[in-house]
Amino acid sequence: MIDEVRDLTKGAYAVADKTSEPALDTVLSVPESQPPLKAIMAFVLAMIAALVGIVFWLTHPQLDLYTQSVLSLSGSPAQGRSIFVMNCVACHGQWANGKVGPNLHGVSDRKSDARLVQQVVSGETPPMPQFQPSPQDMADLLSYLKQL
Ligand code: HEC
Repeated sequence: MIDEVRDLTKGAYAVADKTSEPALDTVLSVPESQPPLKAIMAFVLAMIAALVGIVFWLTHPQLDLYTQSVLSLSGSPAQGRSIFVMNCVACHGQWANGKVGPNLHGVSDRKSDARLVQQVVSGETPPMPQFQPSPQDMADLLSYLKQL
C-alpha cells in the first residue's frame, strides 16, 4: 500500500515535471520584450529606401510630356534664331540684349533646359505671353537660347 502510494506520488511528480515546469520556462523565455533584429533591420532599410526615393523625387521632378519630347529632340540654332526674330525681339531686343524683357545672354547658365521651356510655354511671368510652339520649334528655340 505504501509502495503503491509512493509510486503514484512519483508518477505525479513526473507528470508535473514534464508539464508545468518546462511550460513555465518556455512562457518566460518568449522573446517578446526584445523585437527580433531582422525586423528592425528590415524596418531601417525600408526607411532608408523611402528617404532615398523622396530625395530623388524632390531633386528630379517629373517632366511633363511636352517638355520631355522637346528635350528629346535636337534643335537647330538657325531655325531657333528665326523663331526668336518673329516672336521675341519686340521685348528681348534684336540680339537678345534686353528691352522690356531681360537680356538673355547666358540665360542657360541661370536656368535649366526644362526651366527655359517652362519660361516660354507657361505664361507665368507676365507681361511675357504664353507661347505654344510645336516641340520641334521649341527645341530649335532652346538651342538658340543656349548658345547666346
Ligand atoms: C511681351 C514681352 C515679351 C515677349 C514677346 C517675350 N518675352 Fe521673354 N520675358 C519678358 C519679360 C518681361 C521677362 C521677365 C519675366 C520675369 O522673370 O518676371 C521675360 C523673361 C524671359 C526669359 C527668362 C530670362 C531670365 O533671365 O530668367 C526667357 C528665357 C525668355 N523670356 C525668353 C523668351 C522667348 C524665347 C520669347 C519668344 C518666344 C520671349 N521671351 C518673348 C517679356 C517678353
